[in-house]
Amino acid sequence: MRISFLILLGVLSVVLLGNKGQEDLLDVLKAEPKHFPQIDYPTDNDITVERWKLGKRLFYDPTLSRDSSISCASCHLPGFAFSDTLAFSLGVEKRVGVRNAPSLANVAYHPYLSRDGGVPSLEMQILVPVQEHLEMDFSTLEIADRMMKDSSYYNESMVAYNRYPDPYVITRALACFERTLISSNSKYDRVQLGKEEFTVEEERGHQLFTSERTQCSTCHSGFNFTNYKFENNGLRIHYSDSGRMRVTKSEIDRDKFKVPSLRNVELTGPYMHDGSIKRLEEVVGHYSEGIIEHKNLSTGIKNLYLTENERKDLVSFLKTLTDPGFCKNNLYTQ
Ligand code: HEC
Ligand code: HEC
Repeated sequence: MRISFLILLGVLSVVLLGNKGQEDLLDVLKAEPKHFPQIDYPTDNDITVERWKLGKRLFYDPTLSRDSSISCASCHLPGFAFSDTLAFSLGVEKRVGVRNAPSLANVAYHPYLSRDGGVPSLEMQILVPVQEHLEMDFSTLEIADRMMKDSSYYNESMVAYNRYPDPYVITRALACFERTLISSNSKYDRVQLGKEEFTVEEERGHQLFTSERTQCSTCHSGFNFTNYKFENNGLRIHYSDSGRMRVTKSEIDRDKFKVPSLRNVELTGPYMHDGSIKRLEEVVGHYSEGIIEHKNLSTGIKNLYLTENERKDLVSFLKTLTDPGFCKNNLYTQ
């Protein structure tokens, strides 16, 4: 009697503590930074621990690609704020892509995805790399087949979405994981929250970044340093990628690209849609005297002729947007 009571107590505490762990994790995953806006979770894909864990497992799983060689994390590496270090990432059979892989930090807040804004939601976006010949060259149906043959995937899918592995589950679970990739603890954030101070250089850079003269913060605006609009920042006369025009077919959108977030920009090089600028100093150099006249050049873009010190100040400020805790957070890594 006494022994079975103790066993019961033991089992109960394991169950309860187990649940407590899950609840704590859910709190961590759902904790939105107070200085950021609220995230809109789709009604059919609210976060649960089980969905998130399944999404995380899928994110790092190379069996999502035709020859099981490439995972999402091959091009979106946690240590580089979920971007990579190549101008164009390599897909299956080392096929070279056509655009630079962007960071996934705070991607939950993007109103549309991809550099031309052609994809309406994170759930839909999954289909792009999976099906793209130059990336994973596969399909969600074939991934589902592979998952069906793995009893742990089967069980996790049933627990998370109450259905066996299918394209719905794959896209929902991955998007659920991606929505939790929040970067909100850079030096810039701590300064905003009054917990730290900029150095003199960083402060001068901040002033310059938000000034009338540079206009940087008209496009790279708000908490995520982007207004998500499509602009041309004068990289060249002839672009091999027409950007936003691929979606709208309209000449006024030719060679315009979504304004990228600058969070963790120190780690996300090479820069621009084609990775054509290697270093942050060179990006600032571009805005200083590298602007090429283009018929769709955005208002606000012109050579700024910055002094040596002004360039240094701007770079120092941009580096305050680095969030090392985000890139090393073992919550996100395997
Ligand atoms: C072979 C490299 C590669 C792989 C694999 C890959 N991506 Fe990407 N990802 C890219 C590139 C390049 C872009 C930019 C595409 C564009 O703008 O047209 C991108 C864009 C994105 C975006 C849009 C970000 C934004 O700012 O709009 C998201 C989200 C994303 N990828 C998630 C994923 C997920 C999830 C997976 C796995 C299912 C994945 N990616 C696999 C290279 C890759
Ligand atoms: C009119 C809007 C606009 C203004 C003003 C602007 N930018 Fe940009 N910026 C963009 C666009 C669009 C891109 C991406 C272009 C591309 O993908 O080819 C970009 C790219 C960048 C990048 C590269 C980010 C990456 O991950 O590739 C940095 C860094 C940057 N801008 C910093 C600045 C600074 C500093 C200023 C002020 C001196 C500034 N920008 C002014 C629109 C703007």
